[in-house]
Amino acid sequence: MTSFTYTTTLDGLAADHLRGGFFEGWPNPPTPETHLRLLQGSSHVVLAWDQEQVIGFITAISDGVLSAYIPLLEVLPAYQGQGIGTELTRRMLEQLQSFYMIDLLCDARLQPFYARLGMQPVLGMVMRNYEHQNGEA
Ligand SMILES: CC(C)(COP(=O)(O)OP(=O)(O)OC[C@H]1O[C@@H](n2cnc3c(N)ncnc32)[C@H](O)[C@@H]1OP(=O)(O)O)[C@@H](O)C(=O)NCCC(=O)NCCS
Repeated sequence: MTSFTYTTTLDGLAADHLRGGFFEGWPNPPTPETHLRLLQGSSHVVLAWDQEQVIGFITAISDGVLSAYIPLLEVLPAYQGQGIGTELTRRMLEQLQSFYMIDLLCDARLQPFYARLGMQPVLGMVMRNYEHQNGEA
C-alpha cells in the first residue's frame, strides 16, 4: 500500500509541486502560482504528498482568537477514496481545536463526510464573484 506524507508548513513548497490538476471542474481555476499564493495567505494548511507532488490540501483562515473558516479541501481525483481527505480534515480540525467556531460550507452530499469528523449541519449564506474565481487581481 502506498503511504503518503502530511505537512503543516510550506517549507520548500513551490508552484511546481502543485501542478497535478487541482481545482478540478472549476471553469476559471487559479494557476499553480496563485494556488501557492493562497496557501501562503492561509493561517493553517495541511498538505498531502506523494513523493515530490502535492496530491491533496486543506486550508483555514482564522482571526486567531475565536473563529476559523475552512475554505478549501481537495484531493486529486486519482488519489480520492483512499482516506486522504479524511486525514487532511482530521489533521486540520486538530490544529483548530482551541477555537470556538470552526466553519465550512459544503454540498449536502458531503455532509456525512464531515459529520463523521464531528461537524454538524447548519444553514448559511454566501456571495460569489465568479469573475474573481481564478484569484487574479
Ligand atoms: C471531498 C474529498 C476531499 C474527499 O477526499 P477523499 O480522499 O476521496 O476522501 P476519503 O477517501 O477520506 O473518503 C472518506 C469518505 O467520504 C466519502 N466521500 C468522499 N468523497 C465524497 C463525495 N464527493 N461525495 C460523497 N461522499 C464522499 C467516501 O465515500 C468515504 O466513505 P467510506 O470511507 O465510507 O467509503 C474529495 O472527493 C475531493 O477532493 N472532492 C472535490 C473537491 C471537494 O468537493 N472538496 C470539498 C469541498 S467542501
